[in-house]
Amino acid sequence: MKYETVHGRSIPKLGFGMWKIGGDSYPDPGLDSASMTALRTALEVGYTHFDTAEGYAAGHSEELLGRAIRESNAERQKLFITTKVSPEHLTYDQVFQSCENSLRRIGVDYVDLYLIHWPPHSGMNLKESFRALNKLVLDGKVKHLGVSNFNLNLLKQAQSLSETPILTDQVPYRLPDRSYVENGVLEYCQQNDILLTAYSPVKFRNLPVNKTVRAIAEARSATSFQIALAWLVLQPRVITIPMSYNPQHIRENFEAADIELSEQEFKTLTGLY
Ligand SMILES: NC(=O)c1ccc[n+]([C@@H]2O[C@H](COP(=O)([O-])OP(=O)(O)OC[C@H]3O[C@@H](n4cnc5c(N)ncnc54)[C@H](OP(=O)(O)O)[C@@H]3O)[C@@H](O)[C@H]2O)c1
Repeated sequence: MKYETVHGRSIPKLGFGMWKIGGDSYPDPGLDSASMTALRTALEVGYTHFDTAEGYAAGHSEELLGRAIRESNAERQKLFITTKVSPEHLTYDQVFQSCENSLRRIGVDYVDLYLIHWPPHSGMNLKESFRALNKLVLDGKVKHLGVSNFNLNLLKQAQSLSETPILTDQVPYRLPDRSYVENGVLEYCQQNDILLTAYSPVKFRNLPVNKTVRAIAEARSATSFQIALAWLVLQPRVITIPMSYNPQHIRENFEAADIELSEQEFKTLTGLY
């Protein structure tokens, strides 16, 4: 596994995404067994970064993460747990309530990273949200703050309101989606010690059939999905969080972080879309 070190924290370049673990927008108990298998596999394989949110399966994803961690006896300080406050909970009081609820559901005293999941709904005040978020850091409930789906203006605004460095902007980034390169967020992150967490890194239909990606994959006895992840992981200040229910995919994704693409392969992939 490769790591990024920012603000004194060493963070794995590849973590486990949890959207759809335990349900979609609501809990789906029918998915519990497959969700627990996925989480157990991830912990066994060696994932230490888990990315969940109060909005994932209305908190049930957090509950399952807590259950899997307790079952595995994983040492808390070896894990890097990210969760997120939803945009409809960004008033001063709601931020505290959301964080308390997340800690209770996961069964931990603190989370490593707490993100604003989406920019505030109109009428909500980012200044007020950060007043609460800063206090959560002071109180030790949250180690680091970050944002998600923030454009450059909003990211700079968040930086100016946060009393501690913004650790990440979690945004969509994958071979065919360069919107956060084009809007300047990636370059800004790379120049300012902010991680860009690439979400939905393998979610695109034509990945398995793209001939160029497939040729690179075959030459390395890897899968196209692994090559798409290796391309992200190679980039400075970029980390990623693929999600899978499939134990074999979970393993393959983890191993993708160790694939060393050549400069030529990286250039070919970058020029693809
Ligand atoms: N902040 C935000 O607003 C936001 C938005 C979206 C996502 N996220 C985060 O980012 C994480 C990842 O994004 P995502 O879940 O949207 O998309 P993703 O991880 O790019 O794609 C997940 C899909 O890809 C398949 N897959 C994964 N690895 C594979 C492999 N090695 N081979 C074949 N298929 C594979 C999975 O199916 P199988 O189960 O069959 O493997 C699943 O259907 C989320 O879980 C969440 O934590 C954040």
